[in-house]
Amino acid sequence: MKIGFIGCGNMAKAMIGGVIRSGLYQKDEIIAADHSAGALEQAEKSLGIHTTADNREAVEKAEIVVLSVKPQFYVPVIREIAPHVKPSQLIITIAPGKTLSWLGETFGKPVKIVRAMPNTPAMVGEGIAGLCCNELVTKEEMDAACKVFNSFGRGEIVPERLMDVVVSVSGSSPAYVFLLIEAMADAAVADGMPRAQAYTFAAQAVLGSAKMVLETGKHPGELKDMVCSPAGTTIEAVRVLEQKGFRSSVIEAMKACTEKSRSL
Ligand SMILES: NC(=O)c1ccc[n+]([C@@H]2O[C@H](COP(=O)([O-])OP(=O)(O)OC[C@H]3O[C@@H](n4cnc5c(N)ncnc54)[C@H](OP(=O)(O)O)[C@@H]3O)[C@@H](O)[C@H]2O)c1
Repeated sequence: MKIGFIGCGNMAKAMIGGVIRSGLYQKDEIIAADHSAGALEQAEKSLGIHTTADNREAVEKAEIVVLSVKPQFYVPVIREIAPHVKPSQLIITIAPGKTLSWLGETFGKPVKIVRAMPNTPAMVGEGIAGLCCNELVTKEEMDAACKVFNSFGRGEIVPERLMDVVVSVSGSSPAYVFLLIEAMADAAVADGMPRAQAYTFAAQAVLGSAKMVLETGKHPGELKDMVCSPAGTTIEAVRVLEQKGFRSSVIEAMKACTEKSRSL
């Protein structure tokens, strides 16, 4: 097996779907372990991968192992698998707040660790992940880890001190964007647009705006100014958003998210 996942919930399924769709790994090169029979049955049916209820089996069979359980389960899972991790194996962690030094100490032996923070848009090939690694990981191994994340979006190497910021700007940020889309659609519905159409308009507007930022290289402020005609409709909306503290709400929310990640 090329890659194994311990914990087969939302994020593992998003990543597995991405690597399969991109062709990086075949279905029969992927194994997922989970203690929930329902999660395994669903993964087997929807993704067609190997599954097991035994975490150790995934570790023994896979070259790269992704720890995709919630942060509160990291200690018991690491204690369970540590004796079975081989020196050549690469462990990828995706939990917020779990530092490379904490992970090294918890494994209690030298282990090659890549700490990553992905996000669920991986499901549609548009994820973004921050990655850093410990001193045991070679450049070739880091390249292999980046390939996994590039297969369903982008993997960017960042210094470890920025990993908690990556949590708030990309790991968690789809939730804020979904809130924005929902609120935009609610407003459109309030003004008479059918619900399904309102989601399409709002989501496509967010997608297009994000593409403009990435593809034009222009400052977001400049792109905003291009939409705001003098005495026009858009500047009225911007005026109300500023009055209601839109920017500062986003900044404060993300600072709280980063702090929470640091505290985990
Ligand atoms: N979701 C996101 O957007 C996102 C983004 C970036 C990073 N992450 C990180 O990705 C990791 C997974 O998150 P998630 O949202 O995918 O969580 P999730 O949906 O709860 O999936 C975790 C899975 O692991 C199972 N599990 C729990 N303890 C286990 C154990 N000891 N052995 C084997 N399986 C076990 C869970 O089963 P039960 O449900 O029965 O407990 C569940 O099926 C977390 O560390 C999270 O912080 C998530």
